[in-house]
Amino acid sequence: MLPLLRSLLRAHGGRVLYSAARHSSATYLQSFILHNTEVVTDHLTPEIRLLLLTPRCKYWHLRPEHWPYGDPYWAIYWPGGQALGRYFLDNPDVVRCRRIMDLGSGCGAVSIAAKMGGASYVVANDIDPVAAAAFALNCQLNGMDDLPFDPENIIGDDAGLWDVIALGDMFYDEQLADSLHRWLRRCMEQHGTTVLIGDPGRGHFLGHPIQKQLQKVAEYSLPESTKQENYGLTTSAVWRYQPGCS
Ligand SMILES: C[S@@+](CC[C@H](N)C(=O)[O-])C[C@H]1O[C@@H](n2cnc3c(N)ncnc32)[C@H](O)[C@@H]1O
Repeated sequence: MLPLLRSLLRAHGGRVLYSAARHSSATYLQSFILHNTEVVTDHLTPEIRLLLLTPRCKYWHLRPEHWPYGDPYWAIYWPGGQALGRYFLDNPDVVRCRRIMDLGSGCGAVSIAAKMGGASYVVANDIDPVAAAAFALNCQLNGMDDLPFDPENIIGDDAGLWDVIALGDMFYDEQLADSLHRWLRRCMEQHGTTVLIGDPGRGHFLGHPIQKQLQKVAEYSLPESTKQENYGLTTSAVWRYQPGCS
């Protein structure tokens, strides 16, 4: 397995670090991504083509310190995101004519799936500037004009605009999980927002108090390549957050 990905997965239980980008113009970032990823469809939503890091890419084999940017979460389609993407494509009623916020969008596949499912308005949100460039490229690759991208940390903000907040593989850090939990509860209580979480059963997620207020709505077997990259995880699920229903 690539050293970079191995360290990323290890960091999954810890703090996310973002090193200063050496070159950060959108054009440079897009050119970097195009040269260092390849188009992938062997995931749960093969309808969506994505530029991702694979064993055929140079950086798969190099040590993490050679990677010029912050941790490339955007270069992987995480199992939680894959489950959400599949769920949106198979259940378009969940997103059709709705306003969707894809929080922690990474490569952007969940946003693209929501748009394909008929969402009226989709915004991808990620605090990593390289994810913005990857998202724009992935939109183009799937014949979509760039969907809106929000680079701000919106956790804690008023979320009245959204019918659905989707979170793929976002419960990987205890502090982040706690602040998400507080915010999501407020979004639901104040605005009746539907909250959907994709997660393959990671420790931080299964052990978090939010578990008591979740209802599993779908579960999928992961493709072989995703299983190999994710230390023996075999399935990924979509959960609906329903505070007060524990
Ligand atoms: C494990 S990746 C999941 C990516 C995508 N949802 C998927 O399932 O493929 C987590 C993503 O969350 C982003 N992230 C971390 N903290 C965030 C925050 N406070 N607000 C928005 N995005 C954040 C990271 O930059 C990263 O792209």
